[in-house]
Amino acid sequence: MITEGRHRRSEELRQLPPGPKGWPVVGNIFQLGWAPHESFARLARKHGPIMTLWLGSMSTVVVSSSDVAREMFKNHDVVLAGRKIYEAMKGDYGNEGSLITAQHGPHWRMLRRLCTTEFFVTSRLNAMQGVRSRCIDQMVKFVADAGKSDTGAIDVGRFFFLMAFNLIGNLIFSKDLLDPKSERGANFFYHAGKVMELAGKPNVADFLPILRWFDPQGIRRKTQFHIERAFEIAGGFIRERMEGMGDGCGKEKRRDYLDVLLDYRGDGVEGPLRFSSRTINVIVFEMFTAGTDTTTSTLEWAMAELLHNPKTLKKLQAELRRVKPEDMDMSERIGITLRKAVPLKAIPVPYKV
Ligand code: HEM
Repeated sequence: MITEGRHRRSEELRQLPPGPKGWPVVGNIFQLGWAPHESFARLARKHGPIMTLWLGSMSTVVVSSSDVAREMFKNHDVVLAGRKIYEAMKGDYGNEGSLITAQHGPHWRMLRRLCTTEFFVTSRLNAMQGVRSRCIDQMVKFVADAGKSDTGAIDVGRFFFLMAFNLIGNLIFSKDLLDPKSERGANFFYHAGKVMELAGKPNVADFLPILRWFDPQGIRRKTQFHIERAFEIAGGFIRERMEGMGDGCGKEKRRDYLDVLLDYRGDGVEGPLRFSSRTINVIVFEMFTAGTDTTTSTLEWAMAELLHNPKTLKKLQAELRRVKPEDMDMSERIGITLRKAVPLKAIPVPYKV
C-alpha cells in the first residue's frame, strides 16, 4: 500500500506544470518577497503563464495569462473547483453550513442557489437602494468629520469597511449594527474584524502541515475564539427574531436574509429539512466576512491606483466637478450616489482595520 501510495503521489506530481526550483522544506516561499503579485509576474516571465510553486509543502499553481485562465475556468471548471481550507477556517464543529469552505457538490449547490436567488437578486438590491444611499451618506459624513482632525490624514479603508459592514447588516438583520446605540453591533464588528485580520495572516501551519497540531502562531485558536464570540452575538439576534421580539418586526417589515434562512425548508436530500441555528450563524457570519474585506480592498486598490496615476485622478476629479449635485443620477444607473461634499485631499497612510 505504501509503495502504491508513493507511486500515485509521484504520478500526481509529474502532472503538475513546471516551475522554479525551490529549497527543501520551505519550497519557493523566499522567492516571493513582500509583493507576491510582482514576484509571480517576474517568475511567470521566466517559467511561463502556468507554473507550480511550492509554499512549504503546499503545491500552488499560478496562472498569469487571461488565455490560460479562460481555458481553465471555461473548460475545466468542475475539476478545478476544489478548495484549500486554511487552518484558521477549521472550526471545532467541522464546516457545517459553510459556503466558503464547501467543496463542489450538492451541499455547495444548495447554499449557492440560496445566495443567488435570495441575496444577490436584483429585486432585493433594488429594494435596498434607500439603505445603500443612507450607508454611503453616512460614510461620506464620517470621512468629512475625520478630515477635520489635526493630522488631515484619513484611513479611508476603515470607512469603506464600516459602510460595507452596515450595508450587509441591513441586508441580513434589517439593523444598523454600527449604530452608536448598538453595543452588540459594535462587539460583533470587533470580533468579525479580528477574524478577518487573523484569517489574512500567513500561517506557518498552512505551509508545513506537520505543525498544524501545535498551531504555532495560535491563529486557529484565536480565530475560533473570535468566531464563537461573534456567533454568540448573532445567535442573540436570531433568537430575538424567532421569538418575534427583535427591532422592526412589525407587519410591514421587509423580508430580510435572516427571514429567508429561518423560513428555509429543504428536501432532506440536497440540503437539510431546516437550518440549525448553528448553520444560520455560519451563513450569516460568512456573508460579513465575504462581503466586507473584499469591498474595502477593491475600493482602496482603486484609490491607490488613482494616486499612482495623477493624470487619471485629475480627469476623474474634473468629471465629478462638472456634474451638478442635482444632475447626479441617484438611481445608481451610473454608480454615483454621493451628494455634494467639500472636496478632500487624499494622503496615503499605512492600512489598518
Ligand atoms: C468587490 C467586492 C468583492 C470581491 C472582489 C469578491 C470576490 C470574490 C471571489 C474571488 C470569490 C470566489 C472565492 C472562491 O471561489 O474561493 C467570492 C466568493 C464569494 N463572495 Fe465575493 N467578492 C466581493 C463582494 C462580495 C459581497 C458584497 C458579498 C456578500 C455580501 C460576497 C459574497 C461572496 C460569497 C458568499 C462567496 C462564496 C461563493 C461560493 O462559494 O460559491 N462577495 N467573492
